[in-house]
Amino acid sequence: MSKNQWSSKLGFILAAAGSAIGLGAIWKLPYVAGTNGGGAFFFIYLIFLVFLGAPLLLSEFMIGRKAQKEAISAYKSIAPNTYWHWIGILGVGTSIILLSFYSVVGGWVVNYFLRSLTGNLSGLGVEEYQRLFGTIISDPIQAIAAHLLFILLTIMIVQGGVQKGIERATRIMMPILFILFIVLVVRSLTLEGALEGVRFILLPNFSEVTSETFLFALGQAFFSLSLGISTMVTYSSYLPKGESLPRSVASVVGLTILISLLAGLAIFPAVFAFGFEPTEGPSLIFSVLPAVFNEMAFGSLFFVCFLALLLFATLTSSISLLEIIVASLTKGRNEERKKKAWTAGLVIFILGIPSALSFGLLDAFFLFDRTFFDLLDYLVSNFLLPLGALCIAIFVGKKLTQEELYNEMTQGSRISSSIFKLWFFLIRFVVPTAIFIVIVQALGIF
Ligand code: TRP
Repeated sequence: MSKNQWSSKLGFILAAAGSAIGLGAIWKLPYVAGTNGGGAFFFIYLIFLVFLGAPLLLSEFMIGRKAQKEAISAYKSIAPNTYWHWIGILGVGTSIILLSFYSVVGGWVVNYFLRSLTGNLSGLGVEEYQRLFGTIISDPIQAIAAHLLFILLTIMIVQGGVQKGIERATRIMMPILFILFIVLVVRSLTLEGALEGVRFILLPNFSEVTSETFLFALGQAFFSLSLGISTMVTYSSYLPKGESLPRSVASVVGLTILISLLAGLAIFPAVFAFGFEPTEGPSLIFSVLPAVFNEMAFGSLFFVCFLALLLFATLTSSISLLEIIVASLTKGRNEERKKKAWTAGLVIFILGIPSALSFGLLDAFFLFDRTFFDLLDYLVSNFLLPLGALCIAIFVGKKLTQEELYNEMTQGSRISSSIFKLWFFLIRFVVPTAIFIVIVQALGIF
């Protein structure tokens, strides 16, 4: 039995950043910010990333590396004969639901990418892009086929073990993605009327903030950092002892903030310049970005590259979601990996079908006032992720002694005791209280 392990220190950071950076910061953040008031939402999101997300990420890393086991067994080994491993079970269950609708959006990216290769996507007007995108997501055959294709790609990578391949690919693709985003931001900012978009996303207007704004910003922060379902526990369990966890946290959170800002600054100036509505919803980036590329020299070439990189970033996130499911089913028995990856993947494909149809055949089918897709996203992002995160914060504060935590944090890094104390204070008091208040407020319980 070969042990799963990252081949280098950098490999782990890249994989964790790869998991974090994906559709969350690039597709979901702009549309959720757009529908929740813009700047104020964005501001609260950034605060949550730093003060709740970062301490939680460190906690997941510590649990994983300490236990050296996947999401469910990790809790069992730290707190044997208790119910705490239900955090892992909840995480794996949530992961299945999350991937089922994530893959639908992944399918849209695949569809766009294939079309851009054949030159079908260039030279259209703004409304034509909106119409084209409308067809892509509402046509049942295209939506389901693309969802299937995306899941198959994910399965094929996970069945061989995530360590092979992604490390090297991520090292090359991520920097190019960042550079392309910068090009996009520059073009977007130089469009006529761009300033209004900058104001929309960077100038908070707190008069529009409601308790829902906080709930969505909380869910978005956890979504962007892949938190709450022990994905990062599983990834850090492949980490040999001796790597600095706080430094990894700083890298992953820093990169996520950077890409969130770049995404916001690429999209909103263009939204206003082209006369789109920021409240357009899930289709926002898919109709706005092609129009920005259209305004550039070599735009169609840039667009193909951008879609390839976006697809890559999306896959490095989806594989982390499938990985935690497969790791919890195989528990290190690598000979079963292939079979479990296919079984789990196909179950997720089937579960995702109603979400894939939510923009066409089932677009008038509402459950609790939402389409199937929206309902799953709302449930996962705004309740299951925060619930998981809350349990993880409580687990760390209760089940590990301060000494164990201090040892885990300082292993491989020179961290002053005041940083440890600050982290401990955040995770023990601030994080659980904040999550609790946000959820209770939004539910209107008190
Ligand atoms: N963070 C990824 C993104 O932004 C999605 C993701 C991967 C995720 N694993 C997760 C979200 C675990 C929440 C929990 O695209």
